Amino acid sequence: MQSSIDIVTFYDEHPINLSEILSRAKDSGLALDSLKAEDLWRWDQDHYGGLDAVDALLQALEINSRSLVIDLCSGMGGPARYLATKTGCQVHGVDLNASRVDGANELTARVKLDHLVSFSCADICALPVADNSFNCAMSQEAFLHIEDRESLLAQIHRVLEPGSKFGFTDWIAGDSLSESHRERFASTFAAGRIVSADEYTRLLEAAGFRVEGVTDLSALWKKILVERLEMFRSLEKETVEKFGQLRHDTYISNYEFFVERITCSDLGGARIISTAI
Ligand SMILES: C[S@@+](CC[C@H](N)C(=O)[O-])C[C@H]1O[C@@H](n2cnc3c(N)ncnc32)[C@H](O)[C@@H]1O
Repeated sequence: MQSSIDIVTFYDEHPINLSEILSRAKDSGLALDSLKAEDLWRWDQDHYGGLDAVDALLQALEINSRSLVIDLCSGMGGPARYLATKTGCQVHGVDLNASRVDGANELTARVKLDHLVSFSCADICALPVADNSFNCAMSQEAFLHIEDRESLLAQIHRVLEPGSKFGFTDWIAGDSLSESHRERFASTFAAGRIVSADEYTRLLEAAGFRVEGVTDLSALWKKILVERLEMFRSLEKETVEKFGQLRHDTYISNYEFFVERITCSDLGGARIISTAI
């Protein structure tokens, strides 16, 4: 299903952005010239479940100081900086949106993690990365934007050494997700293809991965997303100042629809862990 909105603009106008993160840090009394990675963790994670969700991937993927991790669709870079801080691993994040890549690099330099963590701008379906460059891959709440999941998984397999772990969290279609729901998600969230957990397993196996585990996160997400909607509502003043009232109102109304679908179990979430064979 063709998505009618531009994904780069969608994230250029996202309520979580560089200036928002820095102004929140400043308003909390932090000195912007001596920030530490942990100072930003409250604001720089753009997925559901914050640090607990990154920790779950860290554990499942057995990330340690020898890990060379590629973070696919790395956003503002919060998860990458968290992994590097916790384990001493190296992380390279890739994101399509130049303003998020610039923001992620700036925040990483500010917290002095640029010896371990870097970001570049690219489409993850055409990764400008040599074969077998990484021994771990991860992603959170981003593959929903990518319709050609077959090419995506083939790319990820190509850049991983055999035996590497690959784990991600993503939206999962429930049995009751209707065509009209799918159309609305395509036109509002640039989510043109939402697959079921079984379909993901088939796609991963076809791309050369062995699926190690699928964890249903739907019940957890129901609670988290209601809170996240409240957080976006609380950012009204800042979002309106930056992007205008229409953008704020549209974002909130689309998010309400999203939370409704999650609450009704039309949509869910999962963490999927696999190994490249
Ligand atoms: C919800 S954010 C998740 C950010 C990050 N994973 C996190 O948890 O903080 C989704 C990200 O996917 C990126 N994205 C969407 N389509 C992409 C593509 N084809 N290639 C690379 N990045 C993409 C967006 O620019 C956005 O930063």
